[in-house]
Amino acid sequence: MKLKRIVSFVLFIGIIMSLTSVALSASEKISLDDWKSYYSTIDNTIINLTPGADESELNFSWHSSFTAQKPVVRISENEDMSDYDEFIGTTSVSDVIGQRVNRVTATGLEENTTYYYTYSSDGDDFSEPSVYITHSSDSFKFLFVSDQQPNSEKYDLAENSYKWNTVLEEAFNNNDDISFIVSAGDMTNSGDVKFEWTATLSPKYLRSYAMATVVGNHDNRGLIPTYSHYVNNPNTYLGLWPSIAGNGYWFRYGDVLFVMINSNKINSHDTYKLVDLAVDANPDAKWRIGVMHHDVYGTGGHASQESAAKIRALVVPAFEENDFDVILTGHDHIYGRSYFMDKGEIVRNDSYNSGVVTDPDGILYMTSFASSGNSRKPSEDHNYPWLGYVNESGNDGYSTIEITDDGEFIIKAFDSTAGEQIDEFKIIKTDFTFEEKDNGGYFYGALIPYLCEKYPFFAKILGK
Ligand SMILES: [Fe+2]
Ligand SMILES: [Fe+2]
Repeated sequence: MKLKRIVSFVLFIGIIMSLTSVALSASEKISLDDWKSYYSTIDNTIINLTPGADESELNFSWHSSFTAQKPVVRISENEDMSDYDEFIGTTSVSDVIGQRVNRVTATGLEENTTYYYTYSSDGDDFSEPSVYITHSSDSFKFLFVSDQQPNSEKYDLAENSYKWNTVLEEAFNNNDDISFIVSAGDMTNSGDVKFEWTATLSPKYLRSYAMATVVGNHDNRGLIPTYSHYVNNPNTYLGLWPSIAGNGYWFRYGDVLFVMINSNKINSHDTYKLVDLAVDANPDAKWRIGVMHHDVYGTGGHASQESAAKIRALVVPAFEENDFDVILTGHDHIYGRSYFMDKGEIVRNDSYNSGVVTDPDGILYMTSFASSGNSRKPSEDHNYPWLGYVNESGNDGYSTIEITDDGEFIIKAFDSTAGEQIDEFKIIKTDFTFEEKDNGGYFYGALIPYLCEKYPFFAKILGK
């Protein structure tokens, strides 16, 4: 009996170790029971990795007890953590009474290298090492997901997060060359519940891959939205009207500029300014990708709401003025992609339906699947003219986006429930110059046209 108990204990510890320690093994599939055992051991102090300002940096954030005041991350190329580099960060107040938020940036990371990191909240007591593997940034692949949205009011969060983990399991078991993850918001459902962050950050993959996120409309909810307490985003732009929920930022990976927008924040010129600042700081980027939550040229009911119309009028012109290539969105929980769009019009491209376009005009908008059992089926009511492809299954899924150093942008989308690829689309660039336009900026190019259309008396006053 005693031996049986010891064996059970050793097996349980084995499960926990396999979920939390360094190794990332391919084709691993965890059962719901094992997931629940693991889930009972974690809380909102779990560490979150976000991209640094570029591929040579990695940002960390985590919650700890209020009394711990020296956040440290050590990085080594050796699993025994010998010859480590040490990075000391900062702490700030937290969304949780009795806790602090710790933020550390590690710099000087090289390509194609296996690293191990440990972290400590007090400079003394360090975690077990986790692995972090870098790839080349000349050509690279990232994972695109959205709307984890764990719902603490309706669901068991352990089961909710198991579904999210299953999407990642499917993605990483089939792609050993992912560099990082982009998630287009609704990281939580309630906006102010710490347990929902535990669910979103629970997959072990997130100890080894950075996840770049944006603020979704659900993250913008609640008494005090928690988003900004759970991320350590680089190049954050507060603007004149900082958002309590979280602000936009940008980062660079290889030849690609990523501009990450809080699309809840539209009633100011801050988003325009952020896009301009990011573009001005990255004149040599060959691709410009925007990420925001709202699917303004999207796949479901949200795309026809007033919020989408406002964002099309007040935010999209910033991307158009700066000749962005692709905008990644979520919100409607249905995978799809638009035709290339410019000023609300479809830019016809003869080869679009063949799945390969070269040097297109306009911007392609992608809408992601949701990722914790909450994807939806499209409705006939939403047969929008801008849709080039929409997924009918209603299953969760993920996309991979590969950007090659010879000018290819390759989208592949996978239904993770059926385990099959459902879409592929390629943009080829031979001309890497951007056609930046002066459409009048926020006031003359966006706000005034919007007000004139919405309020005819305003147009009359201005004689338009
Ligand atoms: Fe959502
Ligand atoms: Fe949403």
